[in-house]
Amino acid sequence: MVDSYTLRASHCNPCLRFFTCLVSYSFLMLLFIESPLSFSLSQTFVLPLKTQLISPGSLPRSPSKLPFHHNISLTVSLTVGTPPQNVSMVIDTGSELSWLRCNKTSTYPSAFDPTRSTSYGPISCSSPTCTNRTQDFTIPASCDSNNHCHATLSYADASSSEGNLASDTFHMGSSDGSDMVFGCMDSVFSSNSDEDSKNTGLMGMNRGSLSFVSQMGFPKFSYCISATDFSGLLLLGESNLTWMVPLNYTPLIQISTPLPYFDRVAYTVQLEGIKVSDKLLPIPKSVFEPDHTGAGQTMVDSGTQFTFLLGPAYIALRTEFLNQTTGVLRVLEDSNFVFQGAMDLCYRVPINQTVLPRLPTVSLMFQGAEMTVSHERVLYRVPGELRGHDSVHCLSFGNSDLLGVEAYVIGHHHQQNMWMEFDLQRSRMGLAQVQCDVAVKRFGVGQ
Ligand SMILES: *[C@@H]1O[C@H](CO)[C@@H](O)[C@H](O)[C@H]1NC(C)=O
Ligand SMILES: *[C@@H]1O[C@H](CO)[C@@H](O)[C@H](O)[C@H]1NC(C)=O
Ligand SMILES: *[C@@H]1O[C@H](CO)[C@@H](O)[C@H](O)[C@H]1NC(C)=O
Ligand SMILES: *[C@@H]1O[C@H](CO)[C@@H](O)[C@H](O)[C@H]1NC(C)=O
Ligand SMILES: *[C@@H]1O[C@H](CO)[C@@H](O)[C@H](O)[C@H]1NC(C)=O
Ligand SMILES: *[C@@H]1O[C@H](CO)[C@@H](O)[C@H](O)[C@H]1NC(C)=O
Ligand SMILES: *[C@@H]1O[C@H](CO)[C@@H](O)[C@H](O)[C@H]1NC(C)=O
Repeated sequence: MVDSYTLRASHCNPCLRFFTCLVSYSFLMLLFIESPLSFSLSQTFVLPLKTQLISPGSLPRSPSKLPFHHNISLTVSLTVGTPPQNVSMVIDTGSELSWLRCNKTSTYPSAFDPTRSTSYGPISCSSPTCTNRTQDFTIPASCDSNNHCHATLSYADASSSEGNLASDTFHMGSSDGSDMVFGCMDSVFSSNSDEDSKNTGLMGMNRGSLSFVSQMGFPKFSYCISATDFSGLLLLGESNLTWMVPLNYTPLIQISTPLPYFDRVAYTVQLEGIKVSDKLLPIPKSVFEPDHTGAGQTMVDSGTQFTFLLGPAYIALRTEFLNQTTGVLRVLEDSNFVFQGAMDLCYRVPINQTVLPRLPTVSLMFQGAEMTVSHERVLYRVPGELRGHDSVHCLSFGNSDLLGVEAYVIGHHHQQNMWMEFDLQRSRMGLAQVQCDVAVKRFGVGQ
């Protein structure tokens, strides 16, 4: 989920939805926590990580546009408070503050109840946490009538939440737990509340001082999302991957001067080129570089499903992909149909055609590393969309310009079967193509 930094000021598309998930399959991930500083060293904790089953229910539908939503969200189950309460949180590398829904209502029975936790404590406005650790929030923290630190979070998809900063104990596995600052939210607005109702909250994983990884002091974390059975693992801390293929590293970009459209605490990498099959697209390098306002950064986001490219890069990709699929696939001729408001290259595939023809691969080239999206993940079958006896499949890359987002966003759909390491200590991201279902088994946790 991308926060609202990168939104073009005058343009806020309510259809843009960088959060969650209509999940219709079971998903099991395992969370490893290896020796985080605040836990007793040498212990390893294993937690199940899964997606939620949520019915599409109240999705607003119009004939030509589908609302922006996600099919998959990566969620982790933990316990919080004393005595511990169960919570499930969406893992989000695109945002900072972790938060829990704290206002239990009949619609959100899974909320956290702070009144039942003896270790819960609100953060006061005068505390340094409130005054100087909230600097990277898009909306500055304020003071409520009780002198408690009040936070308002807003995301690029026009969803938002607000409530008080508080501290409580987060337990993972059988650990004693560790105190963490989080947002205890009494109001959560999302463009599809149905989608979010099953999750208690969100676990912010970016580089900001209040994110989960920063507070827990992990030097690095990694995840691997399987493409075959929706299993996977998230590993927090140092990883011993001697058996695995070596990772290719690309530097994480950090800027010291704040810029209006640049999210300084995101995982920002430098895109250098895009290839369709072996053909390098004719895109000037300057198109991939953030401009003087900070617009045009490339963020790696586990909270966004698909990948979005700025207009000039998207148009070049669309043109070449169309060229290379001419005579292979039948284009959907409907200028009114734009999947999720940003994906306008779609194809008609007969329902009874179970296997797609061989498709061109799309490679995103970073300084020092490459991410290749092959075959089945290049297209996405739009659920429920039919034209006669054809289903509709769209190119799984979208145009940021159509959403009013001034950034390249690499979503989790394209991170499947990819070992993704976020090395905070050495400020770099490591990538390697691996079979994640096999990796899960190698870690001895396969089901
Ligand atoms: C919390 O989760 C554990 C493990 O999944 C389960 O055994 C327990 O019943 C849950 N407690 C509540 C109150 O839901
Ligand atoms: C934040 O507050 C702490 C404690 O008062 C102080 O040591 C630190 O220098 C402050 N940081 C900034 C960026 O002001
Ligand atoms: C909790 O939610 C209910 C129903 O939406 C609302 O009426 C109430 O004001 C909320 N409580 C707080 C503290 O925001
Ligand atoms: C890493 O794993 C290999 C084999 O899997 C083992 O021999 C080695 O001791 C491990 N290294 C560390 C630092 O744990
Ligand atoms: C594809 O691109 C090539 C080279 O630019 C061009 O010669 C060819 O006509 C194009 N084919 C289609 C179907 O657009
Ligand atoms: C798919 O169905 C169409 C008629 O709707 C038929 O003409 C075609 O042969 C079928 N193709 C396959 C592979 O079954
Ligand atoms: C979610 O994804 C699954 C598997 O790809 C698909 O079968 C289902 O139709 C999707 N549902 C929605 C509502 O997007």
